[in-house]
Parts: sequence; C-alpha cells; structure tokens
Amino acid sequence: MDVESFIGALDRGLDFGNADAALMRRARDHLQQALGDESFLADCLDRSLDELSRTLSNPCVFEAPDRGIDVRMVFWPPRFENAPHMHQTWTLTGVLHNIVEIRTYHATDLTVQQLYLGRKGSAGYLLAPCMHNVRNPSHETSVSLHVFSQAKQLQPLAPSCETLTQVPATDSLDYSGTRKLTLMALIDLATQTSGVVAPHLLNKVFALGDRGVKLQAIKAMSGFDLEETSDRIRELLLITSGEDHAHLKHIWLKLSR
Ligand SMILES: [Fe+2]
Repeated sequence: MDVESFIGALDRGLDFGNADAALMRRARDHLQQALGDESFLADCLDRSLDELSRTLSNPCVFEAPDRGIDVRMVFWPPRFENAPHMHQTWTLTGVLHNIVEIRTYHATDLTVQQLYLGRKGSAGYLLAPCMHNVRNPSHETSVSLHVFSQAKQLQPLAPSCETLTQVPATDSLDYSGTRKLTLMALIDLATQTSGVVAPHLLNKVFALGDRGVKLQAIKAMSGFDLEETSDRIRELLLITSGEDHAHLKHIWLKLSR
C-alpha cells in the first residue's frame, strides 16, 4: 500500500470534516495496519527523504489541501518534550520508530487528563478540541507519522500541526546533532524495508548525511546491494581519514573477496 492508497482508503471510510469517535477508531485501525505494511513504510521514507533534501525537519509526506489533509513525519530527539498545545481538528498519530508519550490535559487548569505510551507500530487519535503534548522519554530518536486535518477548525487561526517550539529536556541538543540523529533513525527504518527498496533509501540518506551518517548508511547498505555499496565507499574514501578510513577499507576488502 502506498501513501496515496492509504489516504484514499481513509477518505472513503472517514468524512474528513465530521469525524466522531467511531470513525476515528476505524481510521486509527487503518493507520495501524498501514504501519505494519513494508511498502507503506518505504513510500513514507522515500517521500520524507526527498523532502529532507529541501527542508530541515518534519517532512511533509502527503498533502491534499482540497480535503484539508496533511501527513507529516515528525522526529523527536531523545528526551525532547513539546509544550502543551490545543488541537482544533482531529489528528491521527502512528509510531514508526521507538516510543512517544502523549499526555492530554484538561483545558481549564492544564492538569493531566490521560497518559498514552505509543510504541512502534501502534496508532492513536485525538478528537478536537484537545490540549496535549508529546514527549520522547527515551535516549534514542523517536519517529512518528501524523495525519493532520485542517477541516472545520473551531478557531480560524488555530494551529493544527505538531509544535516543536519548546525544546528540550536537556540543553545539550544542537541542531546538527539533531539532524544526525534523525538521519540515523531513518537508516534504521530503511533497513526494515525490502532488499529492493532499502539500497535506494539508504543512498538518499547517504546523500543527506555528514561523514558519520554516510559511514552508517554504507554499513547498512552492505547488507543489501554490494555494487551500490562499492560506489558509495569509493566516494567516501576520498573524504575520510583515520579510523573511519580504515573501517571503510575493511568493508571494501570484505566486499571485494
Ligand atoms: Fe499536537
């Protein structure tokens, strides 16, 4: 199932402007099923990597402004937590990688209403209006997929997209480090796709990354496509030295045997 088929099926089962709990449960189940589909994951990754060559974060995977739909991949750095914010329209969320914690709040006094722990492969939904925040409680990057609806907003300018304005539980995050962690998480995800698609995706990560990311992409790629890997090793040998250079030569020798 590719992303467009997923949205098409979602569209047939869900009146995007008039979601209720029963419809949202069906939509959530549909997303959860898609998360277990290798071709859906591959399509999401492919689209995100194209977008990441143009933007710095939270790539758009699919959008249909006429239907008020925006699908985004969101990266949550280790220990990151965003500020409680109001959603004025429904949202579907699926966990692609690692875990996220979602808290909903009573809008009146900001006390916690419910706490959900979303694990890889699970999906959930918010019915508007809903005040919530998202936290990555772990020491690894988490990746989630969000289907945002812009339909029937209760307040004209209400944001209905995941906010990343409030950072961090630690003050050690720097942007280049976050970007690197994001690309490393995408390498992990790419290796979960088929042997046909994975080298293509890993090649895209290779193109976006620094030397450390490129080296990691090559290591992952060597499990799939030897010819492609050799090409990338030749490219990386020209710009590495020391331990990385020796490591690459080691991989190169193994592949040449
Ligand atoms: Fe949100």
